[in-house]
Amino acid sequence: MNRLETVRQKVIECTKCDLCKTRTNSVPGKGNFQSDVIFVGEAPGRNEDKNGEPFVGVAGKKLSTALEDAGISRDDVYITNVVKCRPPNNRVPNTNERETCQEYLKKEISIIKPKIICVLGNTAFNSVLGGSEITKFRGKIVRKDNQLYFLTIHPAATIYNQELISTLKKDIVKLFDLIRELKNNKEISVDIEHTS
Ligand code: URA
Ligand code: SF4
Repeated sequence: MNRLETVRQKVIECTKCDLCKTRTNSVPGKGNFQSDVIFVGEAPGRNEDKNGEPFVGVAGKKLSTALEDAGISRDDVYITNVVKCRPPNNRVPNTNERETCQEYLKKEISIIKPKIICVLGNTAFNSVLGGSEITKFRGKIVRKDNQLYFLTIHPAATIYNQELISTLKKDIVKLFDLIRELKNNKEISVDIEHTS
């Protein structure tokens, strides 16, 4: 069993926080373990809870479309969430749930070692970088502890907003332009140096 499969099994069996009592399935990250990028969302919703896979509902469709538009297949990347079990009624996961679950995200990151982490929306922005107001910071590149992050909106925000779907698509194109530059060892300009 590879190391990512070990994390997956641990997530599936996890009972470390109360979300285990209300979930149907936990939702480990999914995708290419050699990906240059990890996408990090908030938490599973109804469809994800039912299927045990991240971003398979309406928001997931938006993310897939934005990736396809940029010429990227979902299978090429790795997609996960801050919290791996669905909060009741899709409420925002609380601090305790996020802190308890963070060891899994940390492990996913340390195993995959992505060139960049794509932060999707406010909950991920807050959990991973302590930020808020993603709409102000979207499109920006952050560096923290030698890890690069790219900030964009949550795909769910685009469901009823045509303007935001083009924002998400534009950001995803920029992200993969950046990844290309990183692979070619080009200097990229960081917008925010995060001092922890
Ligand atoms: N929203 C998320 O943040 N994650 C999912 O997996 C699905 C919807
Ligand atoms: Fe475990 Fe995370 Fe699920 Fe809580 S949300 S039970 S910490 S996997």
